[in-house]
Amino acid sequence: MVEAVQNAGVVVTGAGGGIGAALARRFAAEGARVVVNDLDAGRAKAVADEIGGIAVPGDASAIVTEARDALGGSVDVYCANAGVGSGGSQAAAEAVWALAWDVNVMAHVRAAHELLPDWLERGSGRFVSTVSAAGLLTMIGAAPYSVTKHGAYAFAEWLSLTYRHRGIKVHAICPQGVRTDMLTASGSAGELVLRPTAIEPGDVADALFQGIHEDRFLILPHPEVAQYYQARATEPDRWLHGMNRLQRQWEEATAR
Ligand SMILES: NC(=O)c1ccc[n+]([C@@H]2O[C@H](COP(=O)([O-])OP(=O)(O)OC[C@H]3O[C@@H](n4cnc5c(N)ncnc54)[C@H](O)[C@@H]3O)[C@@H](O)[C@H]2O)c1
Repeated sequence: MVEAVQNAGVVVTGAGGGIGAALARRFAAEGARVVVNDLDAGRAKAVADEIGGIAVPGDASAIVTEARDALGGSVDVYCANAGVGSGGSQAAAEAVWALAWDVNVMAHVRAAHELLPDWLERGSGRFVSTVSAAGLLTMIGAAPYSVTKHGAYAFAEWLSLTYRHRGIKVHAICPQGVRTDMLTASGSAGELVLRPTAIEPGDVADALFQGIHEDRFLILPHPEVAQYYQARATEPDRWLHGMNRLQRQWEEATAR
């Protein structure tokens, strides 16, 4: 049991399935009171019913007030988990880029905007951002996803360095492949890059709780991502060359 989580009021967005549902289940198992959000009201209700939580369906960008009321007036932990796996290149439609910015970045900014006044006043609050290894590295074939996940990571990092001396905890979860609907929808690029080392959503929840226990910002459910991140920072051309090799492999596989 993680003491900081017992009886805490927790919100998990995009928790009707996948990683969000696993986070919601784990928080509930640790004794938290959990608000389960999803755009899909039926899936949010099913998970909430299963864990004894409260369903607050709707767009993750605009649920803090309702979630706070449902939890009796305060949110202790907010998991900005809802995301869209927008693929495509520079040629992706404006609407695809806009949705990726809205869900993967701005929903986090809007939630923080709502949460921080209360958190700063009482000197505590925990913001958990489900980013992706694509926020530290990149994802072939998915420019909107890679760029906006970098944005989500940058925002989580900014929150952490700005408010850590005022009692605010921030965690950025950066997994590679996780066996969810999003992985299934990622097509041939996901098959090539993510599927071989994919883990279960429950493994992501385990990694988060380990990180909460150790008070760590960066949560890497695939520990090898630390080495890739280091290689990208210290040897960018070598790293880009390796990624381009993967890109060409993908092009060859899809041309067949
Ligand atoms: N699956 C992976 O391989 C993987 C890897 C790294 C990071 N992630 C990230 O994990 C998070 C969860 O993804 P998942 O893999 O569980 O995918 P998923 O598709 O199983 O779940 C995402 C959920 O978010 C909901 N959702 C989408 N837009 C929403 C919105 N605006 N408001 C509320 N709910 C919304 C969907 O209805 C869905 O239930 C995402 O941020 C994703 O980018 C996934």
